[in-house]
Amino acid sequence: MTPEQAKARIEELSNQINYHNHLYYQEDRIEISDFEFDKLLEELINLEKEYPEFLVPESPSQRVGGTITKEFETVIHEYRMLSLGNTYSEEELKAFDDRVAKGLGHRDFEYFCELKFDGVAISLVYENGKLVRAVTRGDGTKGDVVTENVKTIKNIPLHIKGQNVPAKFEVRGEIFLPRKEFEKINTEREANGEALLANPRNAASGTLKMQDSAVVAKRRLNCYFYQLLGEDIGVNRHDEAIHLLEKWGFNVSPTYTKCNNIDEVFHYISSWKEKRFEMPLDTDGVVLKVNDYDQREELGFTAKIPRWAIAYKYQAESAESELLSITYQVGRTGAITPVANLAPVLLAGTTVKRASLHNANEIERLGLFEGDTVMVEKGGEIIPKITGVVLEKRKPGSKPVVYIDHCPECESPLIRKEGEAKHFCPNFKGCPPQILGRIEHFVHKRAMDIDSLGTERIQTLIVQRYIGNFADLYELENKANQLLGLEMSQDQYQKSDDGYLFISLPKAFFALTEGLSLASIQKFCERYTEQPLWEVLDNFEMFIRTNNKKVAQNVGTIKKLEEILLSSHLPQMEDYLPVPVVMNVLIGNWISLEKLVEASLHENTVHSILLKLNLPITREQEDRLKKMKANTFQEGVISNMLEGIRASKEQPFEKVLFALGIRNIGENTAQILARHFKKIDELQKASTEQLLAINGIGETLVESIHAYFKDPENLETIERLKTHGLKFEVDATEKPLESESLKGMKILASGKLNHFKRDEIIDFIEANGGQYLKAVSKSLDFIIEGEDMGPSKKEKAEKLGVKLISEDEFLQMVGKKS
Ligand code: IVH
Repeated sequence: MTPEQAKARIEELSNQINYHNHLYYQEDRIEISDFEFDKLLEELINLEKEYPEFLVPESPSQRVGGTITKEFETVIHEYRMLSLGNTYSEEELKAFDDRVAKGLGHRDFEYFCELKFDGVAISLVYENGKLVRAVTRGDGTKGDVVTENVKTIKNIPLHIKGQNVPAKFEVRGEIFLPRKEFEKINTEREANGEALLANPRNAASGTLKMQDSAVVAKRRLNCYFYQLLGEDIGVNRHDEAIHLLEKWGFNVSPTYTKCNNIDEVFHYISSWKEKRFEMPLDTDGVVLKVNDYDQREELGFTAKIPRWAIAYKYQAESAESELLSITYQVGRTGAITPVANLAPVLLAGTTVKRASLHNANEIERLGLFEGDTVMVEKGGEIIPKITGVVLEKRKPGSKPVVYIDHCPECESPLIRKEGEAKHFCPNFKGCPPQILGRIEHFVHKRAMDIDSLGTERIQTLIVQRYIGNFADLYELENKANQLLGLEMSQDQYQKSDDGYLFISLPKAFFALTEGLSLASIQKFCERYTEQPLWEVLDNFEMFIRTNNKKVAQNVGTIKKLEEILLSSHLPQMEDYLPVPVVMNVLIGNWISLEKLVEASLHENTVHSILLKLNLPITREQEDRLKKMKANTFQEGVISNMLEGIRASKEQPFEKVLFALGIRNIGENTAQILARHFKKIDELQKASTEQLLAINGIGETLVESIHAYFKDPENLETIERLKTHGLKFEVDATEKPLESESLKGMKILASGKLNHFKRDEIIDFIEANGGQYLKAVSKSLDFIIEGEDMGPSKKEKAEKLGVKLISEDEFLQMVGKKS
């Protein structure tokens, strides 16, 4: 590639990335996958590394983070960050409007209205068009400097170009974590057995204070800006300021409007009452601000709040509903979450049927009785909550809700650790959702990367007992022929109390007839739900006649069904038919009803009954039976899945170690341990002292590791995985050392380096035989001193007598510079 070509490609990539960022952050849509996006970014970063002369400060590559901040510096705000007065009532809002009119002596003023966002306030300071500082609100007078973290937010301008950009100005706004991102993070955290984030606001605030900006970059924060401050900005009204912000590329919320009087404000408030739930973040009201700056000055401030602005808060909406039942969900970590099933009510624009009850304490706090009438509220959280019981409506003779003491999935007695609110199912190894959680973790992209195994497929394989442990995945190959035709969802089946297998009417009718579509049969059945079976059958005959397709044959089959049904003496179930009866109609000449009944008592699907009986049936019969089944595993899916499983054997040791799901071992720790011990056997043998000596390994982790290797079942799993060829040691051929120039040296880099990003320096040191340590300690051979190395670290290094060398000296040492 010539430099010209590189330059052109860098521009092209930057444009593409900016375009996709814009789509994502401003328009809430995507055109390419995360993977494709990362590929573009990676190509850009590599090109810029190769051709640093074409790296421009506004390149999207500058948003990937990589700095570590141990302690955030505190600075004083140039302009105090004030709060707003707020009200929930229309009267008070009218009174505010009257105060403004009185203060100005006339009614010739307008309001600028927009929603009030529930995020974290931020102040950005720009000098000569460049973002120099991002500061949190703090106590309003002083806040923390979080510039590096804020820089990773993709749509915050780092440089502002254009004419008449003031030499210095400040922009304020609200940083938020979009609800969708919040949910995504929590889904991942749940799968990893990590504590869940409470709500998007806390998550945003926590993210902003993270030490590693590379992690912040991955969190996809966003921001709405609502204020421009500074001397000589050249605008006299707030709407002008907002337009200026938009022109400079700041993300301004699409909710703003100007209102000429308080009635228009009321209209604005009601127009957003329901619509606000479509916003990507939580909003709790409307902020109205006098638009004209001179008028604002005239009105002034009280001690803490401006007299020219106020927030109107929407009442959290609540409604009455009836508690129908409580379902207990078992999470992938075994945590039990009770969920209230409610009679449907309309609340804040959606029909609510369920509310989270969190844990047993919450049920106790509410004092819930069975069948209670409860108040439901939709607040900041996504799931509505029950806020109280309407005692006057309590049904006479009703009983308090009794919390379950056995796992609803596997019947194990539940435990509750001291000081913990949640009950847990301790059956880590046998409880289906917990098995699912572990296998999902195992196949995850960042672990064994078997992407052909989604949740539904894993669940099917678990429920039908093909897998119970991830080592079983590697034995599926031998069972490929049994998998063909395996049913993926069992929704159409029911078991009667005495264990007989039933199938839904539409599925049965569909299999029993020819020339009728499943959709039309389903429609027919909908009209006859909960009717006596014999009536439905009569009407189905009529339905066949009106459709006029293969009438004689189809009616004949239904008559045969009625006959066998009568003679079978099986129980009846509304809207369902016994599977053995339907099967007997379809393949009766090969097998007796008794044998089918017997098999159906022990199996849960048509597929498994057929596997068990292994009948010599004709092709035509097989096709008819297929019509009874749910979605099934087909050849393509199976070979894809087996290929994915086979390919996963090539994953390096560190990924395998992560995939094992040892408690508290995240991706990074797995990497550290794999690189340190090189073999699982060495890790298994490691003593507490040896483990603690490794940077980043603490007591909790040591305990987890020891507990894991103490369990014979885990050792057996590892042995099985080994026989299947998974990698349990670092592949020598995988990454040959680039040189041995740093052999045996323990090194730390601190401050900003010019030639390396954080991960790169670690990789570089390791690739040249050295070891990277994360903290200043006596065992270091030297520290590479980057720009702005923290004074406390420097002091500590000096105290311990650790040598500091410059980045240039380091490069010379490894022969990268003469
Ligand atoms: S204007 C004088 N507009 O609410 C204060 N603030 O209670 C001018 N907030 O610290 C602030 N959405 O963090 C303004 N559309 C909006 C807002 C908003 C949320 C927050 C902001 C402020 C707090 C005041």
